[in-house]
Amino acid sequence: MAKNVVVIGAQWGDEGKGKIVDWLAEETSGVVRFQGGHNAGHTLVVGGKKTILRLIPSGILHETLDCFIGSGVVVSPEALLGEIDELNAAGVKNVEGRLKIAPTCPLILPYHIALDQAREASRGKSKIGTTGRGIGPAYEDKVARRAIRVVDLLHPEKLVEKLEAVLAYYNVQLQHLHNAEPVKLEDVMAVIEKVAPRITPMITDVSRVLNEKNRKGESLLFEGAQGTLLDIDYGTYPFVTSSNCLAGAASAGAGVGPQMLDYVLGIVKAYTTRVGSGPFPTELFDEVGAGLAERGHEFGSVTGRARRCGWFDAAALKRSIQVNGISGMCITKLDVMDGIENINICVGYELPDGSKTDILPCGSDAVETCKPIYETMPGWSESTFGVKEYDKLPENAKAYLKRIEEVCGAPVAIVSTGPDREETIVLHHPFA
Ligand code: GDP
Ligand code: IMO
Ligand code: MG
Repeated sequence: MAKNVVVIGAQWGDEGKGKIVDWLAEETSGVVRFQGGHNAGHTLVVGGKKTILRLIPSGILHETLDCFIGSGVVVSPEALLGEIDELNAAGVKNVEGRLKIAPTCPLILPYHIALDQAREASRGKSKIGTTGRGIGPAYEDKVARRAIRVVDLLHPEKLVEKLEAVLAYYNVQLQHLHNAEPVKLEDVMAVIEKVAPRITPMITDVSRVLNEKNRKGESLLFEGAQGTLLDIDYGTYPFVTSSNCLAGAASAGAGVGPQMLDYVLGIVKAYTTRVGSGPFPTELFDEVGAGLAERGHEFGSVTGRARRCGWFDAAALKRSIQVNGISGMCITKLDVMDGIENINICVGYELPDGSKTDILPCGSDAVETCKPIYETMPGWSESTFGVKEYDKLPENAKAYLKRIEEVCGAPVAIVSTGPDREETIVLHHPFA
């Protein structure tokens, strides 16, 4: 019986989605990205060897698996080809043969990147802290119905007229609002002509193939990027990304019916991190936070920026569980909590009028006013790094996981105790 699982980030991204998707991919006949772009950085470690993926689904290291980029993804063709070349150089087999891209994906082109970066520079202190990859402008073009899409690469010669209009729109902003250099038509056409011959053979009716696989009884894995608190609707707006990063987005973004999504696995770090600007109620500015950053190697895999670190926020998780319909949680990086004497869990917030709430509000202004209410638990001094059996975890670590389950109201299905594929404890297998 086919079972399809959606993996999503339940916090502000970088929860360890890549590791878990790579591990779960074994059970499936395909892995599908359904939103975001190369703002994502998903780290896989197999036998000590590290691979960072941005656009390519985290199933690609399984050598016979098909990997799909659905319509909800914004595709930088240059970033994609660069990533393919890196995988080829690392000896991964038949990447181009196994990668299928929906014709309807909007392209990220040089003017998107130029505008993303120029806007951030103009915003100064109030910048969003974007990855500077052109993600926001590319999604704006999709909604404004002026996007150049993957399918347009089949006829580059027809693009000149369309691009002239698009560039007029972009260059007015670049030059007059941001004092930046305009983008030249011939430079954009040069990119398009260079990438088209390699991208077009990968164009596939992704929606159709996924539905056919489902009919044949094959299982699929849908891989989210970013995280729920960066979701354009339910996150800490405007300090968010420009797509829906929720489980429900897998349906529209891959082109499958929602009834095909059987199980939603929420990836949850055992503490909280955030990269870029925006409110973060449980953020730590002391040596405990610095310790999490150091032990957890909390530096962005895309931009190398330091990630902000803080205590576990169960009230934020409650919002994630609600808006995603999380069936089970995978708690990652438990080992990074080793050696902390007393652990705080945020169970709710006090609001400026003195009232209390047990769930994170949506939107930055509301989150800004939330003062965390903590519950304190004893930590553990033993190492949990690489532990593969639940019973071998220290009692206090088990108590921490139990309390997370109780306060959040969703079961813990998986625990991750190290970056390697194998460093994983299964309590309930999502494909079971
Ligand atoms: P993603 O964007 O959600 O895929 O997460 P990233 O790959 O950006 O960041 C997660 C980081 O934590 C990566 O460096 C992983 O190798 C690492 N990681 C994942 N799970 C664990 C774990 O259980 N323990 C430790 N110590 N590291 C982990
Ligand atoms: P993965 O998939 C963490 C953040 C950026 C910024 C905001 C908007 O690896 O978890 P954007 O470039 O998307 O317009 O930036 O979103 N951001 C991420 N933070 N992990 C990610 O992806 C992110 N993708 C975007 O730092 O705050
Ligand atoms: Mg990441």
